[in-house]
Amino acid sequence: MFSLPKNVTLIEVGPRDGLQNEKNSIPTEAKLSYIHALQQAGVQEMELTSFVSPNWVPQMADAREIMYHAKKKGRQIVLVPNEKGMQAALNVGSDSLAVFIGVSDTFNVKNINRSTADSLTSLRPLIQQLKEDGCYVRACISTAFHCPYEGAIKPERTLALCHQFIDMGVDELSIADTDGMANPVDCYSLFSSLKAMFPGVLLTAHFHDTRKMGIANVFSSLQAGIDRFDTSAGGLGGCPFAPGATGNVATEDVLYLLHSLHIETGIDIDGVCHAVDKLAPYLCRPIETAMYKFYKEEQ
Ligand code: HMG
Ligand code: MG
Repeated sequence: MFSLPKNVTLIEVGPRDGLQNEKNSIPTEAKLSYIHALQQAGVQEMELTSFVSPNWVPQMADAREIMYHAKKKGRQIVLVPNEKGMQAALNVGSDSLAVFIGVSDTFNVKNINRSTADSLTSLRPLIQQLKEDGCYVRACISTAFHCPYEGAIKPERTLALCHQFIDMGVDELSIADTDGMANPVDCYSLFSSLKAMFPGVLLTAHFHDTRKMGIANVFSSLQAGIDRFDTSAGGLGGCPFAPGATGNVATEDVLYLLHSLHIETGIDIDGVCHAVDKLAPYLCRPIETAMYKFYKEEQ
């Protein structure tokens, strides 16, 4: 009846997307405890931090310390917006980098202070260099469905931008519902098109759970053949330059969905909740994910 994969990979984005929008300043030690507990829970791919301007995103100002002190395990990705960020990442030994860009020009200007076309022009030689150096490159495509400034985004625009990154030789596309406006039909439709257009490419879905559509969108994307999802332990997250956008769909809640469907992930739900516990005292709001609440009740 339903077509479901046997295995799914979750890319943990809590330490980066999760923490970049938090109001409190979170000590580097607490971030590292969260990261290490997530590794212990079985996470194999993680966005650890971003090398961006501390004036724009103060929460990521400790990127260098995070990269020095995080235990090496699996694929450790860092986000970079430009050449300066790329050099900083390479200087600490990163070999998996994520570039990011908005389909929406207005969002791109708000986020990285340049148009989508200018971003593409400057990213092209950087990606080429990274590929020549043997790095893994992921391209994060923001506002793939909707933009908080421009409104609905036509799928053709998203597909065209993805095409440009595939031509540049990226290894993975992470397609983001930045402001949590997509519904399951939108997701099924866009991801089916992407699967058909780029059969050999790693395709990842990145959902913000602003309107509690995240789990439904994960399920419909599974139907479209997607078996990689960006998720955030504790449901933290949001882009400071996407007004109103709240956290990513929670790792522990997506794990419950997947495990109840007998899909293997290699990640332990209690282990993820334990990681969330390491961070909870430093947040200025309660964690409200379903599985974390159960975990706390059982303690
Ligand atoms: P700018 O002001 O245009 O930069 O910002 P600039 O090139 O004019 O340089 C200004 C100053 O910033 C200079 O320093 C540079 O050295 C410095 P000064 O000479 O004044 O002392 N600078 C940097 N410092 C540290 N790291 C760097 C860097 N680059 C320049 N990499 C810039 C342009 C891109 C830097 C800025 O707009 C920025 O940092 N933006 C980051 C925005 C961000 O992190 N957004 C969140 C991540 S994306 C996201 O969350 C979406 C995603 O989750 C998917 C989804 O959900 O949609 C991925
Ligand atoms: Mg995001």
